[in-house]
Amino acid sequence: MTSANISIDGKAADYPVHAGSVGPEVIDIRKLYANTGRFTYDPGFTSTASCESKITYIDGDQGVLLHRGYPIEQLAEKSSFLEVAYLLMHGDLPSQQQHDEFKYLITRHTMVHEQLANFYRGFRRDAHPMAIMCGVVGALSAFYHDSTDIHDAKQREIACHRLIAKMPTIAAMAYKYSVGQPFLYPDNSLSYTGNFLRMTFGVPAEPYIINPVVEDALDKIFILHADHEQNASTSTVRLAGSSGANPFACIAAGIACLWGPAHGGANEAALEMLREIGRPERIPEFVARAKNKDDPFRLMGFGHRVYKNYDPRAKVLGEAATKVLDTLGISDPVLDTARELERVALSDDYFIEKKLYPNVDFYSGIILSAIGFPTSMFTALFALARTTGWIAQWTEMMEDKEQKIGRPRQLYTGSPRRDYVPIEQR
Ligand code: CMC
Repeated sequence: MTSANISIDGKAADYPVHAGSVGPEVIDIRKLYANTGRFTYDPGFTSTASCESKITYIDGDQGVLLHRGYPIEQLAEKSSFLEVAYLLMHGDLPSQQQHDEFKYLITRHTMVHEQLANFYRGFRRDAHPMAIMCGVVGALSAFYHDSTDIHDAKQREIACHRLIAKMPTIAAMAYKYSVGQPFLYPDNSLSYTGNFLRMTFGVPAEPYIINPVVEDALDKIFILHADHEQNASTSTVRLAGSSGANPFACIAAGIACLWGPAHGGANEAALEMLREIGRPERIPEFVARAKNKDDPFRLMGFGHRVYKNYDPRAKVLGEAATKVLDTLGISDPVLDTARELERVALSDDYFIEKKLYPNVDFYSGIILSAIGFPTSMFTALFALARTTGWIAQWTEMMEDKEQKIGRPRQLYTGSPRRDYVPIEQR
C-alpha cells in the first residue's frame, strides 16, 4: 500500500492511499485531525470521496458510466429497468429464475395502502408533483411499520422492494390528482413501465393501449436515471440514513434534494429554456447570456460536476428523441432548437474551454413531453427511476461495517466568544 506524507508545521505523518478497482486513488485522511488539529476544506466535495462503493463508476473525462461494471449504453440498449434495478441491488445480472422471482416480488407490492389516497386530498390541486412526492414517500413510514427496522436485513429488503414497486403508483397518483382524474389501481399483468403509463394516462372508462415505442423509450429513460454514484441526492440519502433514519424517510430526503434545478429539476428547466428560445435564430442571444458573468442565466441541461466530456446518457437520449418523435409523428421545433443549440455551444470557445457538454437532462424533457407528460412531472419521473439507485446505495451503506453517522466539520468564520449585552445597552 502506498502512502501520502503530509507535513504541517514541520511535523510529518504518513496517510494510507487506497486504490479502487478503477479510478483515482484516495488519501485516507481519517487521522489528520487527531495528528494535526486541522480539518480539510472542500465545499461541494470536489476532491472528497465520501464512502467506498461497488455500485456505480463514472469516468468523467472519458464520458464513461458503468453500473456494476456494465456500460450504460449496453444496459440502455439490451436490458430492462427492472433488470437494472436487480443489478444495482444485488451486484450481478439475474438468471432467468432470479429475474422472474424479482419481478414477482416487485409486482406484489405495487398497490399502496388505501388510506394513502387521503394524503393526496390534503394537497392543493396545483401542488407541484415533487411536493406531493416528498410528502407521500415520507409518509410511507407511517404505513409500513413492518419494514422500518433498519437492523433487520429482511425488513430492509422488503422496504426496498416496496419503494421500487410503489414509486410508479405514487408518481402516477400525483399526476392524476393534479388533473382531477380518478386514481387507477396498478395492473400487474403489465410491465413495470407499461403499468406506470397506464396508471398515468389511462382512465377507468376505457382500456388503455400501450404504445410499445413509448414503453421502450420510457424504460430507457428510467434505466439512464437509475443511479449516478455519489451525486447530491444520493449523498443526501446516505447522510439521512447514516443517522439510522428509516428508508422511506431517507428516500423522501433524496427526493427533496433531487428537486433543485442544479440537479434533477434541470430536466424541467431545460425544456422550459428550449421553449423560451423557441427557434434556432434566437440561440446566439441565449448563448451570449450564458457566457455573461453578470447574468445568472445558465444553459440548462449543459455542464456537469463530473463529466468533462459528453454525458453518455445524453448521447443515448439524443438518439432516442428522434426515434420517439418520428414514431409518434410529432414534429417539435424544440428538438431542432436543441440540436442547433448543442452544435453552437460545442463549437464555442467558452463551452469548449470549460468542457461543458449536454447532460442527461438536455434531451430527456423533449421525449417526456412527446409522450404527454407535463414538465412538472419530469423530476418526479427522475425520482421514480433514481429510487433504485438510492436504495442500492442505502443498503450498501447499512451493510458497511465502517459506516458511521455522517458529520462534516467546518471552517468557522463567525464571531469569537463574546458576552451577551442586555437590549437597552445595544
Ligand atoms: N451554462 C453556462 N455556464 C456554465 C454552465 C452552464 N450550464 N455550467 C457551468 N458553467 C460555467 C460556470 O459559470 C463556471 O464558470 P467560471 O469558472 O467562469 O465561474 C464553470 O462553468 C464551472 O461551473 P460550476 O458551477 O463551478 O460547476 P459545478 O460542477 O459546480 O456545476 C452544474 C455543475 C451541473 C451544477 C452546472 O454545470 C449547471 O448549473 N448546469 C446547469 C444545470 C443542469 O443542467 N443540471 C443538471 C446536471 S445533470 C443531472 C443531475 O445529475 O442531476
